[in-house]
Amino acid sequence: MMENFIIEPLQEKHLDAVYDISCAAFPLPWSKEDLRREIQNHMAINLVILADDQVAGYLQCWYSYEDADLINIAVHPDFRRRHLARALLLHLIDLLKKKDVENVFLEVRVSNLPAQLLYRSLGFITLSRRPRYYINGEDALVMNLQI
Ligand SMILES: CC(C)(COP(=O)(O)OP(=O)(O)OC[C@H]1O[C@@H](n2cnc3c(N)ncnc32)[C@H](O)[C@@H]1OP(=O)(O)O)[C@@H](O)C(=O)NCCC(=O)NCCS
Repeated sequence: MMENFIIEPLQEKHLDAVYDISCAAFPLPWSKEDLRREIQNHMAINLVILADDQVAGYLQCWYSYEDADLINIAVHPDFRRRHLARALLLHLIDLLKKKDVENVFLEVRVSNLPAQLLYRSLGFITLSRRPRYYINGEDALVMNLQI
């Protein structure tokens, strides 16, 4: 069955919910102030996805000329495995194509298999490995999608 969802740009009214999702998803979540600043960033695309009338997930992407970097993507634990992250990424890719972006890059923890499977299912490939990229000493995989 098709999931019902709405994707829209991050706005002030979403900040509390996005902050809560980032706290549940990441060991070092962005502060609400940092998230708020991104709303004004003209080289960023910040999207939220609403499901069941709630903010269920979000992503942050920075782009410049032909390259884009996926900075963060997270879905609230109660909403996972409903293809919401995939929907966010597909929407992002559509927006980036309209801006003539050609490549999307991201870093992902070597231990983060759910995220790697998500990215691979959309066609991302692993380009390289960055040793001790994360503060706990974990390596990152650098992944890329040509769009
Ligand atoms: C990674 C994350 C964003 C995925 O969100 P999600 O909405 O649950 O993902 P989707 O439902 O869109 O998954 C799409 C596909 O990705 C893969 N996938 C996602 N989560 C998975 C899991 N836990 N185990 C195995 N495969 C998974 C599957 O191929 C899935 O398709 P399927 O359900 O038809 O098998 C979510 O788990 C999350 O917020 N994690 C914490 C934050 C994080 O790690 N972000 C990425 C940092 S690089």
